[in-house]
Amino acid sequence: MIQIENVSLSYREVPILSDITLSLGKGGITALVGPNGAGKSTLLSLIARLQPLQTGRILVDSLPVNSTASRILARRLAILRQGGAIASRLTVRQLVGFGRFPHHQGRPCAGDIAAVEAALEQFELQALAERFIDTLSGGQRQRAMVAMTFCQGTDYLLLDEPLNNLDMFHARQLMRSLRTIADERQRTAIIVLHDINQAATYADRIVAMRDGRVIADGTPATVLTEDNLEAVFGYRMQIRQIDGTPLVLQHL
Ligand SMILES: Nc1ncnc2c1ncn2[C@@H]1O[C@H](COP(=O)(O)OP(=O)(O)O)[C@@H](O)[C@H]1O
Ligand SMILES: [Mg+2]
Repeated sequence: MIQIENVSLSYREVPILSDITLSLGKGGITALVGPNGAGKSTLLSLIARLQPLQTGRILVDSLPVNSTASRILARRLAILRQGGAIASRLTVRQLVGFGRFPHHQGRPCAGDIAAVEAALEQFELQALAERFIDTLSGGQRQRAMVAMTFCQGTDYLLLDEPLNNLDMFHARQLMRSLRTIADERQRTAIIVLHDINQAATYADRIVAMRDGRVIADGTPATVLTEDNLEAVFGYRMQIRQIDGTPLVLQHL
């Protein structure tokens, strides 16, 4: 379980996160949604200790992130950062293999190599395995980055806008792969999504943020109401139920 307790953060007196308290249990997919600047990436970066906590506490499986060694945290939790830069003269297989680093510190064993193959297969990257990263399309590169994150083998996967650059086919395929690893491998995914309907369709839980606060939190059916969406995104949108899933007509 990831416990976020009374977490606040400000840059030069400007509040970015205000007293966030959230528990994210093991298993399933949680979608973090909200407008640009809501604090979603900042919250993920605090959970993964990419920046220090200012106020409050975050525990990952009861380990306080601010006082746990990086190599221990890296075996519980993997993060894909938004727009993270990567060295491009690497093949897809080498990039995905970097995910194993916390396990072998430079000397991969047979289990590490098998994990790389499994990740390539899970994200349908076998045909691209020997390609250099800088020869891929943005969407293919994004998929390779997600596979690297998955390959780290952690219980928790934090993915910041993994659908960026993906076409409809590959966005759907990635969400389905994430659903599979949540259902069949008991991985816990916390995903920042802009496509509210991907969240409605594939997430078990939606946490909606605005201005550094959690505005709504619950199942897609409870969070995706016209009032909540207006409170989060600032305009009114229509919602239709399709086979029990609320779908948001956000473009109208
Ligand atoms: N290093 C920084 N210095 C100052 N302000 C920042 C910094 N990083 C983010 N912010 C601000 O914090 C707010 C939240 O940013 P972010 O967490 O990236 O939002 P989101 O991911 O929801 O779009 C924004 O207003 C952003 O401008
Ligand atoms: Mg962000």
